[in-house]
Amino acid sequence: MQEPSHILTPDAFNRRTFLKKGSAAMAGGALLGSLAAERFAHAAGNDEIKIALVGCGGRGGGAADQALSTYQIGPVKLVAMADVHEDRLTGTLNNLKAKHADRIDVPKERQFLGFDAFEKAIEVADVVILATPPGFRPMQIEAAVKAGKNIFTEKPVATDAPGVRKVLAAAEEAKKKNLKIGVGLQRHHQAGYIETIKRLHDGAIGDIVALRAYWNGQTPWVKTRESLEKQYGRKLTEMEYQMRNWYYFTWIGGDHICEQHIHNLDVINWVKKGHPVKANGMGGVEVRKGPDYGEIFDHHAVEFTYEDGSKCFSQCRHIPGCWDSVSEAAVGTKGTCDVNSYTIRGAEQWRYKHEGDKDPYQQEHDDLFTAIRNNTPYSELEYGAHSSMTAILGRMATYGGKEVEWDKAIKSEINLFPDKLAWDAPMKVNPGPDGMYPHAIPGKTVVI
Ligand SMILES: NC(=O)c1ccc[n+]([C@@H]2O[C@H](COP(=O)([O-])OP(=O)(O)OC[C@H]3O[C@@H](n4cnc5c(N)ncnc54)[C@H](O)[C@@H]3O)[C@@H](O)[C@H]2O)c1
Repeated sequence: MQEPSHILTPDAFNRRTFLKKGSAAMAGGALLGSLAAERFAHAAGNDEIKIALVGCGGRGGGAADQALSTYQIGPVKLVAMADVHEDRLTGTLNNLKAKHADRIDVPKERQFLGFDAFEKAIEVADVVILATPPGFRPMQIEAAVKAGKNIFTEKPVATDAPGVRKVLAAAEEAKKKNLKIGVGLQRHHQAGYIETIKRLHDGAIGDIVALRAYWNGQTPWVKTRESLEKQYGRKLTEMEYQMRNWYYFTWIGGDHICEQHIHNLDVINWVKKGHPVKANGMGGVEVRKGPDYGEIFDHHAVEFTYEDGSKCFSQCRHIPGCWDSVSEAAVGTKGTCDVNSYTIRGAEQWRYKHEGDKDPYQQEHDDLFTAIRNNTPYSELEYGAHSSMTAILGRMATYGGKEVEWDKAIKSEINLFPDKLAWDAPMKVNPGPDGMYPHAIPGKTVVI
């Protein structure tokens, strides 16, 4: 893809050719000699890596801060930002400038707005941070891989099965292009989790026969239609409303089983070295009712079955006044493990000692940028897609009320994404005359 000339110095061109992973060179084999020379230059850490941020909200700002904080490994610059909402882009740009003034070069012409803004930002960067709501991720990951760019993508990476398939295809393509891809499942970069799960894999509690995963907590946020209409000074189109209050719509947020509980389900997949083969569950809306809470459930309870017959019992709940727990645990033939508190009991007794552990949000960026600079293979996309699909499988089980098999679920053609992206586009989910959105009805709702 052609790079805009205004940021391309000859040096930058050489560097960018390399950073686009020398994909053609890798495939061609004949150019490996020259690639090795460039790789050496990279290991020296002298080259500036250009970063674009797509989705400039809370997490996007955090991820950009962490990416820019890798300057201690080598020079980095934020060169482009993309969002659909100007207020979010400007606010985050100002925050980042306050901390990283000399690592930010995002003039007006590289502040891209609109549904196609991501394409323009991807073009001018070496590394793209994808931090929009997850419904957009498959198309953005696909575009970044097509353009040969390294990626840090937030989780989940999709909200439906067609999206997961698109991401898995992009993961394959990215491997061929030698692209480096990090996924915001930061427990994989958290020293205590890494050490604990290594011990489980080494047999510390024997064969693992049962697991549990919980994200029982509180409603994270809501943007009411009333507050948004005040902000806009007019009525909103349905797309405008759902984009601002995205957490409550499945096409864009996935439901909280995907949005948050994915972290715990991902840990279980990591422990089990694979994904479940089937799931059944129950869930609904007990308390969080009302027109501003969209179509998602406020609780889900799912039993996942893994290939070896072991089970994971999962709960996620957003109901105030109830017992909270964000945790994972495993039961084995020789002991038990509280995974999130890094404790093993039974034949082997062990507890992880915290010694200068680094913030996993920073560590995941350090690891990605180190891999880029050293040109070492690095992709978290496949397991990120499988963990996203695990959460989607759980949602299919609770929405449909029936047992759902992975092999069928992942082939589902139910595409939740709107047919058209525009502020006045028709939506697939709309409120009724009372302002309430329809919820899935277990036993009746078709999920595959
Ligand atoms: N790894 C973690 O622990 C962690 C923590 C928080 C959030 N996240 C993830 O980060 C993502 C974003 O969450 P957030 O809390 O920052 O939400 P947010 O609403 O604060 O930010 C999302 C931003 O994306 C923008 N946006 C929406 N659609 C867009 C599009 N099509 N193109 C460009 N920009 C678009 C919005 O205007 C907004 O600025 C979510 O997937 C969430 O799960 C991960």
